[in-house]
Amino acid sequence: MKKIVLTRKAETGPEYKVVRPAGPLKGEATVPGDKSISHRAAILASAASGRSEFANFSHNSDCLSTLTCLEALGVGIQRETDRLLIAGKGFGQFRAPSEPLYCGNSGTTMRLLCGLLAGCNFEITLDGDSSLRTRPMERVLAPLAKMGLKIIKDGPPPFTIAGGKLSGIEYLLPVASAQVKSAILLAGLQAEGKTTVVEKIPTRDHTERMLSAMKAPIEIFAPSFDPATLEGRLAKDQRERKISVTQTGTLVPLRMKIPGDFSSAAFLVAAAILVPKSKLTVREVGLNPTRTAFLNVLKRMGAEVNWKVEEEQAGEPIGSITARHSQLRGVKISGKIVPNLIDELPLLACLAASAEGTTVIRDAGELRKKESDRIAAVTSNLRKMGAKVGELEDGWAIEGPTEPAGADIESFGDHRIAMAFSVLGLVASGETLISQPECVEVSFPGFFETLEGLAR
Ligand code: S3P
Repeated sequence: MKKIVLTRKAETGPEYKVVRPAGPLKGEATVPGDKSISHRAAILASAASGRSEFANFSHNSDCLSTLTCLEALGVGIQRETDRLLIAGKGFGQFRAPSEPLYCGNSGTTMRLLCGLLAGCNFEITLDGDSSLRTRPMERVLAPLAKMGLKIIKDGPPPFTIAGGKLSGIEYLLPVASAQVKSAILLAGLQAEGKTTVVEKIPTRDHTERMLSAMKAPIEIFAPSFDPATLEGRLAKDQRERKISVTQTGTLVPLRMKIPGDFSSAAFLVAAAILVPKSKLTVREVGLNPTRTAFLNVLKRMGAEVNWKVEEEQAGEPIGSITARHSQLRGVKISGKIVPNLIDELPLLACLAASAEGTTVIRDAGELRKKESDRIAAVTSNLRKMGAKVGELEDGWAIEGPTEPAGADIESFGDHRIAMAFSVLGLVASGETLISQPECVEVSFPGFFETLEGLAR
């Protein structure tokens, strides 16, 4: 059988991947452990009193950055083939590292560590790679400073902070960000008084679920409403979520199997939908409803996709997704669902190029602040493949269907751009060349091999 993904090296210059048109994708797959949940597992377990044990912890490079930083803070971590053991030190018990903490490409590592370290009585510098050095950090430093964190040298990274005595605050999130929410909650667990985060737009709630599983003093208030009445539906639209925590000395250690990463599964699901005659099931995937809006949008686009929850781990639903090749139609995507599919939007834009009619994606300005400017990256690459794309400040207008043509894709070293365009390459005429393909390691080690295996 011909290979659909090849590695080539230019005569001078780095390696790139060549993606070729594929036959049907069939069978079953699993994906590596969820990146967001793995970060939280490591960070919260390091603050627990006792030893936590995780199966399917993701070995992607972002989560490895978190583990390396925690080790530099004196946390005992045992990495075994199929499990990860973390000896919790307890809040405020970390060791001052001798070097700046290097967070690599990982915004989640950097932002959550700011919250974890806000209660530690030492100075610390956090740094990252060239992409992370451009990403906004004031969104996390500003609320933590209100709680008492000292900013010795302000962001962008490298920046230096000093933790200490903290007081609780009530904070309305100005940007819908689960990372900012989580950092404030981590600091709130070490602060005097109550800390409340208010979100007008719900973001992924892995931190809240894990803290509840670890018996932390956390309360979540989301007003109920009656979806059968107009008032109820209006109330739902207006409703804010409030999450409160108070100081705690103890988090109960966890024993958990980390669900497969929904955002990684999304690439395989999209590939099955695009490639004629495909039928694919992805098993043991996280199906937390604050992450799965992609599936609801696929349904609206006319895709044959089904999913079902089969088990729960530390409050996280896990199940399987089955997708078949489908003809898609254009849709509008905007408003409150955007944070629940923010990482899938580059992929949805690629699917939209193959859909009949116009797709408009708005309210997604945050994409400009991710590992690359994802709005610009998707626009330029989709145009190279022949798609009709209008770039908007906060999204795109894409007119389909286009028969994509293989092209030279610039991934900008951004894992989600590399993978989204590899998927589109499966149905492009000719070869699609993906630059810096090693960036997929950030969230989905083995991505190209998995695609290859499914197309056999
Ligand atoms: C993440 C939250 C999202 C997401 C990122 C991971 C998390 O970012 O884009 O890939 O693990 O909390 P923001 O919370 O900054 O929007």
